[in-house]
Amino acid sequence: MGETIQIVVTVNGRRRALDVEPTATLLDLLRDDLGLTGSKACCLVGECGACTVRLNGRIVDSCLVLAAEVDGGEVMTIEGLAPDGRLTALQERFLDHGAVQCGYCTPGQLMAATDLLARIPHPTVAEVEEGLAGNLCRCGCYVQITEAVLAAAEGER
Ligand code: FES
Ligand code: FES
Repeated sequence: MGETIQIVVTVNGRRRALDVEPTATLLDLLRDDLGLTGSKACCLVGECGACTVRLNGRIVDSCLVLAAEVDGGEVMTIEGLAPDGRLTALQERFLDHGAVQCGYCTPGQLMAATDLLARIPHPTVAEVEEGLAGNLCRCGCYVQITEAVLAAAEGER
């Protein structure tokens, strides 16, 4: 093992001090060091969005961010969306609308959609599609995902 870099990062509200490899990504840190496996490792080149997390207030592909870069930062993962086990309204709408099939893309979709609704509380279909354009779904649930986001925006119960 080569030299490691010491960092301090707040993940889902909890401050963590970690030694990371210089080449480790934020996704490696989350999954391998912290056991937060909700963020998925898929393309690893920033194409699919399965690894989407919030870093310092904006969403990023965690496979493209070096762990060393997040020193002093704040990260929120899918595990942080429902920390007490109660699903958010958006998560409930994903279930109601059949927007989850294999579920592999779902954490990234939810992180991106949560960010979208925070920025644009009542988006149009085009705004939802644009906001989630970086999140691929191999099961092809795009229509259901868009419906779920729109339903959450409308406060559908
Ligand atoms: S795994 Fe990061 S974008 Fe695909
Ligand atoms: S639900 Fe399977 S990849 Fe989206």
